[in-house]
Amino acid sequence: MRSDALRCIGCRREFPEDEILYACPSCGNLLEFIVPISDLDADKLRASFDSRPLGVWRYKELLPGFKGKSPISIDEGGTPLHRCVKLGNELGLRSLYIKFDGMNPTGSFKDRGMTVGITKARDLKVKAVVCASTGNTSASLAAYAGIAGIKCIVMIPSGAIALGKLSQAMMHGATVFEVKGNFDDALELVMSSSRELGLYVLNSVNPFRPEGQKTAAYEIVDQLGEAPDSLIIPVGNGGNNAAYWKGFSEFKELGLAKKAPRIYGIQAEGAAPVAEAFRRGADKIRPVKKPETIATAIRIGNPANWLKTIRAIRGSGGDCISVTDDEIVASQKAIAKNEGLFVEPAAAASFAGLIRLVESGDVGKDERIVCVATGHGLKDPDGAIRVSSKPIKIDASIKSLRAKMG
Ligand code: F0G
Repeated sequence: MRSDALRCIGCRREFPEDEILYACPSCGNLLEFIVPISDLDADKLRASFDSRPLGVWRYKELLPGFKGKSPISIDEGGTPLHRCVKLGNELGLRSLYIKFDGMNPTGSFKDRGMTVGITKARDLKVKAVVCASTGNTSASLAAYAGIAGIKCIVMIPSGAIALGKLSQAMMHGATVFEVKGNFDDALELVMSSSRELGLYVLNSVNPFRPEGQKTAAYEIVDQLGEAPDSLIIPVGNGGNNAAYWKGFSEFKELGLAKKAPRIYGIQAEGAAPVAEAFRRGADKIRPVKKPETIATAIRIGNPANWLKTIRAIRGSGGDCISVTDDEIVASQKAIAKNEGLFVEPAAAASFAGLIRLVESGDVGKDERIVCVATGHGLKDPDGAIRVSSKPIKIDASIKSLRAKMG
């Protein structure tokens, strides 16, 4: 029997994995799931992984154990690692890739964590699940709760999420509450009401969700044959970068990778408390009261995972910086035009950050670099139309077409 447990990231107190807890009752810090790496045989793991297709459950020995039944899954993960020849050449980079996690079933990386989180919810026999969301988490949770037959409640900031994401949550059958306030207000409401109302929280404060998300790091190692030198990733609530760091670190500890990459977190300038803390060299963030950015997915002023994020990025030897909305839009267009990938604004932040990091010399031109594209562009069609040139109206005649073709 494996000795899986949850451990507080602050005081390191341990808890049984079936206790419903999101924060340590002693010190208030978040919890993380501990995989007993030293009990595992890396050669056996390698052989098991290689016998399965790329995807979250290829790595099931490194995920929380489930009681008998198979996981609730719609084939998450196994997303492309796209070699960016044109954009790489433009920046003078030898080896640039985009991990396109927008190719997950609901169009974002959230599905990786949700397959694990909802399977846990099923085993815990919870009656209802809840999340606060800037959109993608709600879409993913709604889909997975639907499959599991568990009631789903999502709380979104009023008028501040992309249309595609809202339509998904509604279509998958969630009860959607529009909270008068921003994401941070919605998450506070979720956390303060969940116990009283008997709701199981599936935001990234849930210790099982990052376990699914860390598999993207394993996949990158398996797709490249080794870990990259630098990984560039958008930061909102701060869960995903920490999950990648956990994944890379576990593979390194097992000897399944020789190294782990430096992780560079990228925030949008109007919602950048983590980048600001890094600029000050501080160990704590100062929350941003009114976060603003075109990248609605990362419009977050008080990231719940701030401590995990700071530790992951510092531990990796990386940095956290911010980029402007103009840089995000320019990057979204450059990726679409040159590489054929349509990514949402938050996802384009990683490439916008890379441009700055290459300019500053933090990321070298000979490095092997992976930018994470966290969500699909079709999530936010309104945003894409707003920043693109409008369709040209013509009569249905060659004459009219020729006149307007220029
Ligand atoms: N990229 C996309 C497309 C996202 O949807 C999110 C977060 C992030 C990046 C940031 O990831 O929060 O782990 O640092 N979206 C959450 C949501 C907050 O509700 O969908 P993070």
